[in-house]
Amino acid sequence: MRLYVTGGTGLVGSNIIRLARRRNDIEIIAAQYGPPPEWDVDYELDPLDMADTSAVRESILKYQPDAVIHCAANLNHAYMQENRAAAWQMTVQGNLAFAQTCAEVGARYVFVSSDWVFDGQQPLVDEDSPPFPVNFYGFMKTVCERDIMGVAGLSYGIGRLAGIYGLNYSNPSLLRKQNDVGFDLGNYVVDQLSRGLIAEIWTGPKVNEVAHPTLASDGAEMLLRLAEHDENGIFHCWGSEAISRLQLAFHFADVFGVDRTLIVPVPTDPVVLDRYRHIRIPFRIVTSNEKTCAALGRKTLNVSDGMRELKAQWDAFHGLV
Ligand SMILES: NC(=O)c1ccc[n+]([C@@H]2O[C@H](COP(=O)([O-])OP(=O)(O)OC[C@H]3O[C@@H](n4cnc5c(N)ncnc54)[C@H](OP(=O)(O)O)[C@@H]3O)[C@@H](O)[C@H]2O)c1
Repeated sequence: MRLYVTGGTGLVGSNIIRLARRRNDIEIIAAQYGPPPEWDVDYELDPLDMADTSAVRESILKYQPDAVIHCAANLNHAYMQENRAAAWQMTVQGNLAFAQTCAEVGARYVFVSSDWVFDGQQPLVDEDSPPFPVNFYGFMKTVCERDIMGVAGLSYGIGRLAGIYGLNYSNPSLLRKQNDVGFDLGNYVVDQLSRGLIAEIWTGPKVNEVAHPTLASDGAEMLLRLAEHDENGIFHCWGSEAISRLQLAFHFADVFGVDRTLIVPVPTDPVVLDRYRHIRIPFRIVTSNEKTCAALGRKTLNVSDGMRELKAQWDAFHGLV
C-alpha cells in the first residue's frame, strides 16, 4: 500500500509512520509543513501547507496513493478563534481538497476528527449520535465530516480521536509540557513531579473534565486499520475508558513512580480563563466505541493498559530497557 500521511511530525502522525515503517508492504509519503523530523527519514517527504488547496491536489495527483491519513491540524484554539478565515481555509478547505482528490485518484481517505464534535452534555454518545459542537474547532471538524460524506465516489473513514497522550517519535523536542485545558497533561505532570514541583490540575467551566484518553500508538493502530478497511462511516478510535483529568494525572504519577501528593486540583488560571472567555469547552464526553472495535476487529486500550504500554514505550525509547 502506498500511504500518504499528513501531520507526520505530530503526536499521532509520528506514531502512524512508526507503525507503517515496521510493515514492508507499506510505502510512506509524508506531507511536511513544520520543523523537519528529528529521526532518520527513510521515506518520501513532500513540503505542503494544507491551506493551499491547489498544492494539496497537486501532491495527491503526483503520488497517487492508495490511502491518505489526514492527521494535520492546528490545535491552537485561541488562534483559531481569532483567525477564523485562516483556520477555515486550512481545516475545512484543506480537508475538502484532500477528499475530492482522493475520490479523483481512487484513494481511501481517512480524516482524523475529534470527540469535540460533541458538547459533552449527553450521558453517552456513540458513532451514530448527532454532533453538537460548542466551539469553532469542533464546528470545523463537524463540517469536514459532513463535507466528506458528500463527495461522490469517495471511500472514506472518519476516525475520531480524543485526549491523545504518548511519545512523539519523530520530533521528541516538540512534546508539549505546558499545562492545558484538555487531556494532554501527562508530560506536564511527569515533568513537574519529577522536579519536585506541584502539578496544578485546573478545574472549572473551561476544562474538558472527562474524556477517553488515547495512547497515540493505540489511536494510530486504529487509523491504520481504517485506511485498510473498506467501509464508509464514522469510527471512534479512542481509548475504551472514560476518566477525569485528575484521575488521569494520578495514573501518570503512579506509572512513572513520581509523588502523586504533588498533584493539586485548583481553579483554572485566570489568564487562561480570560484567553478562553469566548471559547466553550466540552465538559464530559463519555462514549461507546463498540461498533468501531467490531468493524475494525480490534479493541482499544483502557487507561491502565494504556499507561503500562506508555511506560514500556518510554523506557525503550530512552534506552532504559
Ligand atoms: N491531540 C489530541 O488530544 C487530539 C484529540 C482529538 C483529536 N485530535 C486530532 O488528531 C490529529 C492529530 O493531532 P496531534 O495531537 O497529533 O497534532 P500535533 O501534534 O499538533 O501535530 C499536528 C501536525 O499538523 C501539521 N500541520 C500543522 N499545520 C499545518 C499546515 N498548515 N499544513 C500542513 N500540515 C500542518 C504539522 O505536521 P508536519 O509539520 O509534519 O506537516 C503538525 O506537527 C488532529 O487532526 C487533531 O485534530 C487530537
